[in-house]
Amino acid sequence: MSAASAAAIKDSRLSRFWNATNGKKAVMAVTGLILVGFVIGHMAGNLQIFLGPEKFNAYAAALKALPALLWGARAVLLLSVTLHIWAAIALWQLKNDARPQNYVKRKPIASSYASRTMYWSGPILALFIFYHLLHFTIGAGGTAFDPVDVYSNVIAGFRVWFLSVFYMVAMGLLCLHLYHGIWSMFQSLGFQHPRYTPVLQKAAQAIAVVVFLGFVSVPVAVLAGWVS
Ligand code: HEM
Repeated sequence: MSAASAAAIKDSRLSRFWNATNGKKAVMAVTGLILVGFVIGHMAGNLQIFLGPEKFNAYAAALKALPALLWGARAVLLLSVTLHIWAAIALWQLKNDARPQNYVKRKPIASSYASRTMYWSGPILALFIFYHLLHFTIGAGGTAFDPVDVYSNVIAGFRVWFLSVFYMVAMGLLCLHLYHGIWSMFQSLGFQHPRYTPVLQKAAQAIAVVVFLGFVSVPVAVLAGWVS
């Protein structure tokens, strides 16, 4: 077989995979898994703020000490977010094409509150991340910023009460998004079992709540004056 025809077969397999609903769900699930891994790691890293400025700033500096690793991780994250949003839009379009007219009176039966929030919590989270990067990475979020003093940036950022509230509301949405996202990720990857499915649902709930509490503990601690 020539190299050109082998490449054509590979291309058509890839496009068939993408065109199938299951292909898009698999893309959502795998990119979602990468993003959940990042979120848990980031939340755990943030908790080091409770160890004091030296430890927290040393941790932030260590993350930037290897530029190849930092930019590699950033590239994977960016690609994952892009594919995740792309697959979400494609699935939403498929859903709309299947039912172009809205129900006269829509009463969701099987879909949970968390699943119905996915399509608006996702875009709001994307806006949150955009502001968050301006705020703590680029230093254009409207509060004091010093590229080597990440600890002080966080304190200055969360002393502004409405920014703290904005972060906490975003973390609440993240919690909902993660709860349903992790749960549907298990289903998309084919984990269906009468005994283990309810356990997985509880696990998704637990991860979402731990992530929420871990993240909100930082603005709460700053507002309460526990870290300063
Ligand atoms: C209260 C909650 C949060 C706090 C206190 C926080 C804190 C920070 C800080 C201080 C940085 C800059 C780190 C540095 O320059 O060394 C950062 C970067 C970042 N955060 Fe957060 N974060 C929070 C929530 C989130 C959430 C929920 C997400 C995603 C869903 C997120 C995604 C990111 C990303 C993508 C970066 C850029 C990482 C990079 O430099 O490549 N953060 N965060």
